[in-house]
Amino acid sequence: MTELTHPLATVPQDELVARAEADPLRPRFHFVSPAGWLNDPNGVGQWNGTYHLFYQYNPEGAFHHRILWGHATSPDLVNWTDQPVALEPSGGPDADGCWSGVLVNDGGTPTLVYSGRNGERELPCVAVGSPDLLSWTKAPENPVIPAPPAGVDITAYRDHCVWREGSRWRQLVGSGIRGRGGTAFLYESADLRRWDYIGPLFIGDASSGDPSATDWQGTMWECVDLFRAGAGALGDQEPDGDGGPDADVLVFSAWHDGDTRHPLYWTGRYSGDSYTPRELHRLDYGGRYFYAPQSFADQSGRRVMFGWLQEGRTEAATVEAGWSGVMSLPRVATPGSEGELAFAPVPEVELLRRGHVRTGPRTVGGGEVLAGVSGNQLDLELDLELEPGSVFRLGVLGSGAENPDGIPNPDGVPAGAEETVIEVGCDVGSGGFTQSYVLLDRTRSSLDRTVDAEEKSGPVQMPGGRLHLRVLVDRSALEIFANGKPLTARAYPTLGGETVRLSATGTVRLLQLDAWRMEEVFSAPRPLFP
Ligand code: FRU
Repeated sequence: MTELTHPLATVPQDELVARAEADPLRPRFHFVSPAGWLNDPNGVGQWNGTYHLFYQYNPEGAFHHRILWGHATSPDLVNWTDQPVALEPSGGPDADGCWSGVLVNDGGTPTLVYSGRNGERELPCVAVGSPDLLSWTKAPENPVIPAPPAGVDITAYRDHCVWREGSRWRQLVGSGIRGRGGTAFLYESADLRRWDYIGPLFIGDASSGDPSATDWQGTMWECVDLFRAGAGALGDQEPDGDGGPDADVLVFSAWHDGDTRHPLYWTGRYSGDSYTPRELHRLDYGGRYFYAPQSFADQSGRRVMFGWLQEGRTEAATVEAGWSGVMSLPRVATPGSEGELAFAPVPEVELLRRGHVRTGPRTVGGGEVLAGVSGNQLDLELDLELEPGSVFRLGVLGSGAENPDGIPNPDGVPAGAEETVIEVGCDVGSGGFTQSYVLLDRTRSSLDRTVDAEEKSGPVQMPGGRLHLRVLVDRSALEIFANGKPLTARAYPTLGGETVRLSATGTVRLLQLDAWRMEEVFSAPRPLFP
């Protein structure tokens, strides 16, 4: 067993799995690491039909240190099998960590491009896989780019997006130019080993906007991900009907001085050696709770994205729990009506549904516990019609509410002691136009006052007051989709709350509600090193 060296390695490594397994707040149908720390999704892809998910992993404990690449495979994106650790630090450029990167198909050879960390420095490295993608050999040429571009004062330099364009490879490395803003440096190569620097693809503006705003661009762009939304491929100049000025999406995670802010994306057009941005969008209204996303086109052509759900409890509590970090459910991104993206969990998530309950149509009253539906692993789908000025609230993970038959809770817990509330509103703004929104209210999510309870919200289009609301509750993980706009976050109820409550102010019609319990995806404890 590894010696405990890091100051946060207070839980013996052989206890981590038991601690993690015993935590009632650990999700059961989201992917989590066997125990210890998980952050970014890496090398996401589909290879000969099998889905691969690699991830930033520290099996030493629930803290970020000396990162390895964990690995899991799946036939369907929801049921996962742990595979041996794919990459771990060795002497040389990745001596202090194998940081984020991607998987590409190099003429039939699975190949990883990742950031090797040595000291405070990260540089691009390559590893070549066996045909089953289970064992990896680092390229002798590492680091394949020996230094960041010369003469540029950068804030950081790491993470990769690599694609094939004609007979050449192209690569973006995330970075930022001090005093200006985040950027992605563009490179080109014939063999993934020798790279020619082309220039910054496009430079953001960290001086504009309010640094505390939910769409501030950050001083460094982590985990850049460039793709063609819809039909066609990056670099196609005459794509079939989809080559508009919004065709190419540049996703990045806005970072500032060690602070992981939020994922954003530009819509725009990649052409030649540059990117012409059109509009900046928030990728997920939960901000840092859906961080460092990475996407891939699967064999059916879907654009599938995973993100990292960070923790909202203190570092000390997380370390004690023995595990940290949740992988989002895979979500499909499709071009929306205004050029922006719409998101929905992949349909395969429905494989985990059990015990269907349906209700509606009816008008939602002042407050009701939903009969026949309770639990902390749920998939809820609601179709609603909101009159202008009305508000609908869906309470989940609730405890202390009265029972459905009106009998006060016998456990002495005050009514409504804990509840996480998803609110959607169809506001009438000044001038009579509607401003609709989705909001997550966590002020009563937890009696534990040390957990994050910041409000999360964002605008949602609700033509005709109609809303499709999908809510996935998995213990401490919450994924909300309001007409395709995602809001992902964490909540840490202490009372084991399982109640679901509906309420409305103004006139809200529940056209239909479908609810399911969700099956867990791991049935036995998993070894730290599969
Ligand atoms: C994003 C990130 C990446 C980096 C990795 C390290 O969360 O900071 O920029 O490669 O995590 O684990």
